[in-house]
Amino acid sequence: MDENRQDRTIKASNLFLEVLFDGISEQIMVVDETGSIQDVNKVFLDEHGLKKEAVLGRKCFEIRSLRGSHCDLGSERCPLERAKKTGERVEITRGHELGEPEFMELSRIMYPIAAEGKPRLFVEISRDVTEYRNLIRKLKTSEKKFRTILDTVTDAIISINSDHKIVVFNNAAQQIFGYSREEVLQKDLNMLIPSQYGDHYRFVRGFLEIKDPKIMGKSLSLTALKKSGEEFPIELGLSYHEMDGDITFTAIIRDVSAQRQLEKKLLQSERLAAVGQTVAHVAHEIKNPLMIIGGFSHQIKDSLVDDKAARKLDMILDEVSRLERLVASIGDFTKVYSLVERSADINSVIQDVLKIMGGIYSSGKHAFKASLASDLEEINCDPDKLKQVFMNIITNGIDAMEDGGTITITTQKSSNSIEIRISDEGVGINEEDILHIFEPFFTTRDRGFGLGLPISYKIVEAHNGEIFADSVPGQGTTFVVKLPVV
Ligand SMILES: Nc1ncnc2c1ncn2[C@@H]1O[C@H](COP(=O)(O)OP(=O)(O)OP(=O)(O)O)[C@@H](O)[C@H]1O
Ligand SMILES: [Mg+2]
Repeated sequence: MDENRQDRTIKASNLFLEVLFDGISEQIMVVDETGSIQDVNKVFLDEHGLKKEAVLGRKCFEIRSLRGSHCDLGSERCPLERAKKTGERVEITRGHELGEPEFMELSRIMYPIAAEGKPRLFVEISRDVTEYRNLIRKLKTSEKKFRTILDTVTDAIISINSDHKIVVFNNAAQQIFGYSREEVLQKDLNMLIPSQYGDHYRFVRGFLEIKDPKIMGKSLSLTALKKSGEEFPIELGLSYHEMDGDITFTAIIRDVSAQRQLEKKLLQSERLAAVGQTVAHVAHEIKNPLMIIGGFSHQIKDSLVDDKAARKLDMILDEVSRLERLVASIGDFTKVYSLVERSADINSVIQDVLKIMGGIYSSGKHAFKASLASDLEEINCDPDKLKQVFMNIITNGIDAMEDGGTITITTQKSSNSIEIRISDEGVGINEEDILHIFEPFFTTRDRGFGLGLPISYKIVEAHNGEIFADSVPGQGTTFVVKLPVV
């Protein structure tokens, strides 16, 4: 290569470097080991409002301090010192007060340049990252806000991606579903959906194909699956959002079990009230004719000599007394309970009941066992009506044990109630029937009225207590009565 050409090539590449040096949008400064400025680019000069002559040969920290940022040469935080020590690229980000309200954050990268035989030089490239940093801070704040909202709402919020994998599972979701976040994140949503809904992924696939937001934003009534395997009613609202082609579906889920139960109870008590009125009326109409039939039958029986006719009259009298019991039960069921309250010891109420029941069922086929807590305090209650409740439950237990067995009664104190459990070893109650046992006239017994439990329910309700049953068909049933301690 001749000298001229070489010269031209060098000139061209110098020019290229110069253009690059000045055209770049970041501040560039070249310093020697003492911090003395050897060169700066146009952006640097513009930023500092200085001419090149005023900068060259000055110390970097002097020039920096003109813009309000004080650098200490020799300090730990000086990028030049660190680059000198390590001989490697150093990057620092620092805030600079430029006088109220201006504040600038600079990212500074210092490179050592190795040039043999010459004093070492360092290039510093600085970039204003104020806006970028502010954006990150804003993003973090808004993410924090979003997280706080997500974790304080009482509705479960669950998001899935288009692969059906769970990506968001807030605190309420953990509480409602019984899973911890770690147990569900990145797992398939199907684990929260009862199997009767079939392949739920179908819905996501269908949506991705036609992008039809028909059900988006609507409230759906469905059931969901807890970790325990229990299904429960929910109301669910769906939304989706798309970002860079990625779709996220978010469901806001409300557990409506308590609400549904309340609705059911309300419906039941409305139905009970309506049934009660009609039944009370009919019972009232039957009462007098029954008395007349019973009274005259007794009179006729006394004057009868024909045995066959007397037996028929006995049957009439049996049915009459059964109907009288029904009328009395209906009276018990339809009347409004006003309790005759006094302070009483539930253990002695139970002991009285056991004495009576032991007298009635004395054949030895049935045994009674009691395990009564010694620390029960007296409570305000109507002991006579409670006796009726316990007798109804025990009679049912005996009826359920045709071949004999044991009735076990326990009492127990919990924080704010007394719990009485009455268990039998009888036939048990199947899942369908147990939903109806407290409804009036529900009976599975030939000669039952289906009123014993509804009456008991009303009495316990009047005490502000609770009554429920738990049964294993074929093994036995336990009735639990909880009475408040006030
Ligand atoms: N301990 C029990 N074991 C099995 N089934 C029970 C038991 N207790 C109640 N049941 C079921 O609940 C139904 C309703 O009971 P409830 O006491 O209200 O009426 P009943 O016993 O049939 O008639 P009655 O009005 O004479 O008491 C019963 O017919 C029976 O099917
Ligand atoms: Mg009964």
